[in-house]
Amino acid sequence: MKVAEFFAKHRFSATIETDAILAEFNRQMTSGLEGHVQSLAMIPAYVDVDRSVPTDTPIIVLDAGGTNLRVAIVQFDKSGKPSISNFKKYAMPGTSGETLEMDDFFNQFANFLEPVCRHAENVGFCFSYPTEITPTLDGKLLRWTKQVAAPGVVGQMVGSGIAKAVEAKTGQKLAIRVLTDTVATLLAGKSAGISRRYSSYVGFILGTGTNIAYIESNRNITKIEGLDPSHAMVINIESGNFNGTPASDFDDRFDATTSDPGVGRFEKMISGAYLGGLGLVLLKHAASDGLFSTPAAEALLNLNSLSTKDFDDFVANPFLKGSPLDAIPFSDDDRRIFMTLGEPLFIRAANLTAANIAAAVLRSGAGHDKLHPVCITIDGSTYYKTRTAFFKSRVEASLRTTLGAKNVNFELISVEDAPMIGSAVAGLIA
Ligand code: BGC
Repeated sequence: MKVAEFFAKHRFSATIETDAILAEFNRQMTSGLEGHVQSLAMIPAYVDVDRSVPTDTPIIVLDAGGTNLRVAIVQFDKSGKPSISNFKKYAMPGTSGETLEMDDFFNQFANFLEPVCRHAENVGFCFSYPTEITPTLDGKLLRWTKQVAAPGVVGQMVGSGIAKAVEAKTGQKLAIRVLTDTVATLLAGKSAGISRRYSSYVGFILGTGTNIAYIESNRNITKIEGLDPSHAMVINIESGNFNGTPASDFDDRFDATTSDPGVGRFEKMISGAYLGGLGLVLLKHAASDGLFSTPAAEALLNLNSLSTKDFDDFVANPFLKGSPLDAIPFSDDDRRIFMTLGEPLFIRAANLTAANIAAAVLRSGAGHDKLHPVCITIDGSTYYKTRTAFFKSRVEASLRTTLGAKNVNFELISVEDAPMIGSAVAGLIA
C-alpha cells in the first residue's frame, strides 16, 4: 500500500481548511462569550491589562502546568525589569504515576511554598488547567488536562485550598491569585513590550498542552453581568478543547487510549503530551497495513509508548540512537517510510497551530494599522524545540499567509520565563 492510499484510508490529511477552521473558531468563541459553551470555554481572567505594575514589591510565583512545578520570588525594578530569585523546581504533583487525594495535593503545594512564604504575602499562581476564575482571582478547577491524576481536586478552589494548607502548616496567611499560563504569557509580553505601541496582545502556549488568550471588549462578554462596557478583559479561550477540526482514525484510536477520551481533541493533535503517542498509533496502523518490513512491523507493534521528543528526533534523524526506537530493526527503506509517515503529523500540527493563533488575532479585531501590530507572545517547548518539518518557521510562514491576506500586522515575540513573569504581573496588579 502507498502512503497516500494509507492516509486516505484512515481519513488523515496534513493540509487543513484554514478558512473553515477560522470561521468555526469564531462562531464558537462568540457562543462561549454568550455562555453557550460548545468546545471553547472562553474563561474571563478578570485581569485588566491597563493597570500599571507596582515596582520594588516582591511577590511569590508558583508555576504549575507541565511536568515541572516552579516556585520563585519575582520583583520588578523601577524601570520595569523583573528579577527572579529563590528559584526551585519540583515534579508536578499527580504526574509521577501516583493518584493523589485532594489533601495530599494541597499539602504538597504547602511544602513547596513553606521555604518562601515569609518573603511576600501575595502569590501569583500560574495554574495551567481549565479553571474558572473568580473576580478576586481564586480559581475552581473544571477538569484536569495533561493526564494529571488527582481527581479529588476537580471542582475545588485551588487558590484558597493551597492558602489554607499553607496556613495550617506555617501559620502564614497568603493571598493566592490564580491565572492560566496563556494569560500570564500575554501579560509578560505586554510588560516586555512596554516601549512598543501594540494595538493588542495574544499569549499562546504550545508545550505539554496548548491554549491561547487574547483581549476582548467587555461589551461582548455577555455571560457576565455588570462589566463596564468601556473596558476590556483577557479571555482564556481553552483552545486545546476545540472540536472543529476533522479527526482521522489515528486521532480517534489514540483519544480512546487517554484518561479523558473526547476531551482536548485539538490539544491531542498538536501538543507535547500527545504527539508521540499519536505518532505511535499511526506507526502501528502502518505496520498492520504492511508499510514496514516484517521484522520492523513486528517490533513496532510491540512498542508500548513513544514520547514526542523521541518521535520528533527520530523523524528528523532516523539514525539517532538513545530511544526505544533503537530496538526496532529498521532497514533504510523502513527509515524512509518512517519519515514519510511522521512528517505529515508535524505539518498538520504546525498548520493547526497557525490557525489557532490566527483565530485569536482576528478575534481581537486589532493590527490593521502597521504602526500598531498585534503582539503575539509564544511560550512552550513543543513550539520552540520541535525539529521536524521546520516546525516553528512553518507556523510563522502560515501566519504570514493567513493574516497577511487579511492585512493584519503582527509581531511574534518570546519572553524568558513568561509564565512566571506574567503571574507576578497579575498578582501585583490585582
Ligand atoms: C490547559 C490550559 C493551558 C494549556 C497550556 C491545557 O491543557 O487546559 O489551561 O493553558 O494546556 O499549558
